[in-house]
Amino acid sequence: MFNNNCTQDVDTAFAHDVEKGLSRQPKMLSSMYFYDRRGDELFQAIMRMPEYYLTDSELEIFTGQKDQILNAVGDEPFELIELGAGDGYKTKVLLSHFLEKEVSFVYRPVDISPNVLHHLQQDLKKQWPELLVRPLNGDYFRMLERLQSEAGHRKVILFLGANIGNYTYDEAADFLSQLCAQMGPDDLLLIGFDLKKDPAVILDAYNDRAGITAAFNLNLLERINRELGADFVIDEFHHWETYDPVNGAARSYIVSKKEQTVQVEALGRSFHFEAWEAIDVELSLKYSPNELEELAHRAGFEPLRHFYDDRRYFVDSLWRVR
Ligand code: AVI
Repeated sequence: MFNNNCTQDVDTAFAHDVEKGLSRQPKMLSSMYFYDRRGDELFQAIMRMPEYYLTDSELEIFTGQKDQILNAVGDEPFELIELGAGDGYKTKVLLSHFLEKEVSFVYRPVDISPNVLHHLQQDLKKQWPELLVRPLNGDYFRMLERLQSEAGHRKVILFLGANIGNYTYDEAADFLSQLCAQMGPDDLLLIGFDLKKDPAVILDAYNDRAGITAAFNLNLLERINRELGADFVIDEFHHWETYDPVNGAARSYIVSKKEQTVQVEALGRSFHFEAWEAIDVELSLKYSPNELEELAHRAGFEPLRHFYDDRRYFVDSLWRVR
């Protein structure tokens, strides 16, 4: 899970979570900490990798079905709120189409990083000076609460890129129930899910030949070195990926190649690793169509339409409050 914290306390929260995560058995660090400046760059590189089909699949859905998506959303004015907007790469397909069809909407990207929002706003201004962009910097729920208090148009919320997959099923249900509670009867949610498929395809996406995913995961140790003064020797750890086709869980681990002790200056303590001991660093949960329907109902939603890519690798699903 990620992007759901408050910027000003990230450093303290980071130190606290590192201490807690490396003290427990098995060791665990949250994937939300992947996304520092270097992590953002590596994630951009992941999205361009041939093995990482998720980006292409969602782009194919938006490019090929933008008319159907707009028909389902309807052309009554709306606020288009994107949770975790990033660089807006895929969303631009929808923005461009909505502008071309002269739909009345305001684009409201929500992100925890002011830097990301600033770049996105500049970029969009250059491309479409006529597009109304009003970014929201901060935590998803605080931003939604703020929007609720502003009298405005109905909301169309985007939660794309299978970001929901970085939560466990129970966490996802909890997150979506909270989101549902912030939505009105005319509001809609368009949410992306990565689907269960050939396990080999999934494993390759998280275990690319060029080693970009390995660098992305190991950057977490480098971040602890940089920000908390630790002495992790990166070559003494490696990236390991598993996929369980029964529960749909792709999991990333960082494995210690030998018995060693790592000192973390900011915490004033060290952490011991047995040879081949692993740190659990990421869950990317894959769903079946039935599982995502169940999730929608459990969180209080009614699914209206499903937009699949041709290979049925990915789905963007449109939900309203039940
Ligand atoms: C952001 N999130 C949906 C990505 C995923 O597929 O779980 C993060 C990622 N981790 C490794 N590759 C991509």
